[in-house]
Amino acid sequence: MAKSRVQFICQNCGSAHQRWAGKCDACGEWNTLVEEGTAGGIGSGPANTRNARKGRAVVLTSLSGDIEDAPRIVSGIGELDRATGGGFVRGSALLVGGDPGIGKSTLLTQAAAALAAKGHRIVYVSGEEAVAQIRLRAQRLGVADTPVELAAETNVEDILATIADGKRPDLVILDSIQTLWTDMADSAPGTVTQVRAAAQAMIRYAKSTGAAIVLVGHVTKEGQIAGPRVVEHMVDAVLYFEGEGGHHYRILRTVKNRFGPTDEIGVFEMSDKGLREVANPSELFLGERHAKSPGAAVFAGMEGTRPVLVEIQALVAPSSLGTPRRAVVGWDGARLSMVLAVLEAHCGVRFGTHDVYLNVAGGYRISEPAADLAVAAALVSSLTGLALPADCVYFGEISLSGSVRPVAHAQQRLKEAEKLGFGSAVLPLGSEELVGGNGAGGIGANAFQPTELADLVARIAGSRRSRADEEE
Ligand code: TYD
Ligand code: MG
Repeated sequence: MAKSRVQFICQNCGSAHQRWAGKCDACGEWNTLVEEGTAGGIGSGPANTRNARKGRAVVLTSLSGDIEDAPRIVSGIGELDRATGGGFVRGSALLVGGDPGIGKSTLLTQAAAALAAKGHRIVYVSGEEAVAQIRLRAQRLGVADTPVELAAETNVEDILATIADGKRPDLVILDSIQTLWTDMADSAPGTVTQVRAAAQAMIRYAKSTGAAIVLVGHVTKEGQIAGPRVVEHMVDAVLYFEGEGGHHYRILRTVKNRFGPTDEIGVFEMSDKGLREVANPSELFLGERHAKSPGAAVFAGMEGTRPVLVEIQALVAPSSLGTPRRAVVGWDGARLSMVLAVLEAHCGVRFGTHDVYLNVAGGYRISEPAADLAVAAALVSSLTGLALPADCVYFGEISLSGSVRPVAHAQQRLKEAEKLGFGSAVLPLGSEELVGGNGAGGIGANAFQPTELADLVARIAGSRRSRADEEE
């Protein structure tokens, strides 16, 4: 008798196990193994090899050739089009992931409405909300009278039959992938097998008809529902919608894009009437700046091709604890420790008896090492109580030897700073000849370019002396 083919599938990484275990060997997550049948499951192979048919020859073709149709559908929502690389690509599948409640449905409702208003056929299938709820949201967004076609449905076969009716849709939005289920797999909705099989069916539909599809996926922590990661490799592009709790702005980040640049971001602000585009993110992250307070430094950063100015705030305070506290929001804690160590070892600045708090304004997250110099400046400023010049931006990477290393895109960073009214900059030496020369103009002429971090520390400490001189 054939053994029943039951498997335990990790809901985090999708690996299959013969028996249940508390921890997945493959990815190390706990409590993520769920029993699933293998019928039609991905990775189980053809169920019956005897029925395997002979292959059919397909026509091979060349790389050059005509491409029919305008390949992209542009929504007109600038920040969304930027993140997708210029609009939704026909015949492609896009995954929009994010935490529950971050605003994925809101964003896609707005996109659907904008596209439908332009005459595209847009189908919005929701498996999470009833039609009435979606209508309420549309009313709130002021788009209730756009001709978006709506359905509350979760079965893939039914959805495919529905959209096959009439003109081929230009865009089909499936909100969310975790609620979809197909007859082809017999696990529960939300499991890896179902999510993959349903996504596969929808992607096949997109490729064969040329309709663009958007899959919405919730990021899940519990592991009981398969996360968007299990379909990342199947789709053409992956966007994550992120935001920091308590802040209104949201960032749409491109993680993968077969048809455009990755590391792009779109910035939005959640208002009571939906998402508002933020075309100039620097203004958002610099919003709450007060001049003359020690511990604040403006970092000229880059997000993809776009410069973003953010304020970095440091607070260095005497500690009553044996092991002083180090707390970081919006930056890497290990990198902070490194900058502190370099300041101690090479610049003679001691933090051993001080608590150090570091915060990136606006709840923004920085991943660039180029922020090192701005962080160091903020730390030294807070420790000495000397405010940094309010019209100065900082960027540069710090090496363990205490030298300041050049970073890419110096020109763009300076241009953005100049545009926002900054008049001077501290940046690495060798950040291209352009500094001070053509294009960079005024701000380049006022640039201070230390080769060693100690030079910057001396300059900040030196500001006390010059200020004292002025007072005399
Ligand atoms: P939603 O798009 O439903 O999130 P997701 O689909 O990612 O789960 O957005 C939910 C949150 O957004 C909810 O807390 C309410 C808020 N919101 C606004 O603040 N303004 C609005 O105009 C809308 C439609 C929602
Ligand atoms: Mg939703």
